[in-house]
Amino acid sequence: MDKYETYEHDVVVIGAGGAGLRAAIEASSAGARTALVCKSLLGKAHTVMAEGGVAAALASADNRDSWQTHFRDTMKGGKYLNQYRMAELHAQEAPERVRELQEWGAVFDRTRVGGINQRNFGGHTYPRLAHVGDRTGLEMIRTLQDQGVHQGIDVFMEATVRHILTDDDGHVAGALGYWRESGRFVIFRGKSIVLATGGIGRCWDITSNSWEYTADGHALAMWAGAELIDSEFVQFHPTGMVWPPSVKGTLITEGVRGEGGVLKNSDGERFMFDNIPEMFQGEYAETEEEATRWVNAVVADERPDARRPPELLTRDVVARAIRREVRAGRGSPHGGVFLDIASKRSPEAIKRKLPSMYHQFKELANVDITTDPMEVGPTCHYTMGGVRVDPDSQETSVPGLFAAGEVAGGMHGANRLGGNSLSDLIVFGKRAGEYAAQHAKDREAMSDVDAEEVERQAETMLAPFHREQGENPYTIHEDLRLMMQDKVGIVRTEEDLVEALEALTALRERAATVRIGGNIGFNPGWHLALDLENMLDISEAVTRSALMRQESRGAHTREDYPDTDDVTWGKQNLVTRQAEDGSVEVRAEPLPEMPEELKELIKD
Ligand code: FUM
Repeated sequence: MDKYETYEHDVVVIGAGGAGLRAAIEASSAGARTALVCKSLLGKAHTVMAEGGVAAALASADNRDSWQTHFRDTMKGGKYLNQYRMAELHAQEAPERVRELQEWGAVFDRTRVGGINQRNFGGHTYPRLAHVGDRTGLEMIRTLQDQGVHQGIDVFMEATVRHILTDDDGHVAGALGYWRESGRFVIFRGKSIVLATGGIGRCWDITSNSWEYTADGHALAMWAGAELIDSEFVQFHPTGMVWPPSVKGTLITEGVRGEGGVLKNSDGERFMFDNIPEMFQGEYAETEEEATRWVNAVVADERPDARRPPELLTRDVVARAIRREVRAGRGSPHGGVFLDIASKRSPEAIKRKLPSMYHQFKELANVDITTDPMEVGPTCHYTMGGVRVDPDSQETSVPGLFAAGEVAGGMHGANRLGGNSLSDLIVFGKRAGEYAAQHAKDREAMSDVDAEEVERQAETMLAPFHREQGENPYTIHEDLRLMMQDKVGIVRTEEDLVEALEALTALRERAATVRIGGNIGFNPGWHLALDLENMLDISEAVTRSALMRQESRGAHTREDYPDTDDVTWGKQNLVTRQAEDGSVEVRAEPLPEMPEELKELIKD
């Protein structure tokens, strides 16, 4: 074992986005020796892509808001498949976590009377998103990083973890990874490990997700014996850039619609008025006049006496509506629809409220959003599915293994509300750090690392260098992304999903013969060859779950089962695990029974 560089900590946090940083801060402040391992550079986390705000019932922009309303909105948005206890903790604790960020130096936009300002977002009854212009995720990372570096956390950058090591009792012993720069292996031993690795969006062709989102944590957990939950629910954010091709999928914040932006088709119609689902009837403006009254009140910083515009319906609804317009031939020149803020807000307000959007379109598409509409279309943004955890502690079924943030499942059910991800990161990041530190404290000795297992894993990782012939990993990744986009996208059918499984088998065979040239020192082809293993396994978990759920709910739309089936499927989560023979198995499990007082909150 001496041949591998090895570090020892009480708690090892993998991933340095919002959840990882918050977990590391908590573990370290509880006295645990804490390592923070990230495959990118510190500060470059994908958290920055949650732009429009962090959802918390602070009630500073509208004093009618409360954790109970936030809980209700979250459950309704998730189509009631959410793990109720996570949604409850999230709604209750988010305000405290946001105030704490402010104490640590986050510079939120202010209300007229000096409170934290909050903007409207889809599915939230009241203005609930604390924000910093349209750079909220960035400000969160900056703040957490500042707080974390003064706390004695050991940070390891550009190290990719490939395997969770366990002892004979199945308890975590450490994590095996490699340095991206040198390619050399490294072992992080720990009594507790927290996965905070984010999402899986790089399995799809059109995505807002950055290069890091290759399903690492989902696969690490599943390979170690943990279960996944709700894997079929993948969120397509309604508004990504569609043009030019080099930036297709780049996020356009929902904040644009929260600030009054409207969606129109090529006939100039605001098609969202025709797309209000039954469960939201009565909650949204049904006429242009009412929607305009709402915007005017928001512009004047007043409480609206009108219902919210239908552009602020939940993301699943808006993404499907946009897809329908494009398919019906009413799309924009580059295959999206139009998002117009210019006719609703002054150029000064747009530049002040949405500075990144202004620059993004100016620089990347040569469009001035203060005068012209944007072209937008759905982009794969987030996975509601993730590692199954205990709602209070965030521990998985593998002793000593915790998960928080996007990699953990259950909080958002069938669809996530915008802004609930940033709050999820800090609420459950803190909890994971706290319980991981406690677990480490309670455990006397560090588990031994199995040297043979390390050797076996190391050999497997190096195999692509030893093949005489084999395919390039980039072509396999490209084929995977196109296939998942085509067959496991916004709208699914049994035929497509079965074909997707067949395609995954073929891709897996190709991936097993990948050949890499050069040496192990900074070799992106090799990194991708390894990432393909995660992406293929997790794509299969998504596809098998999507095939099993024979209904349409939230982000999962089955053309062959267009109705929502509350009697059967509305009462079940799908749980995925890896069987002994390596295959991916899915089973249905009843939802946990919700206490009466919470049932009361959602009974309408
Ligand atoms: O649209 C956005 O700003 C994204 C926010 C989120 O995903 O929560």
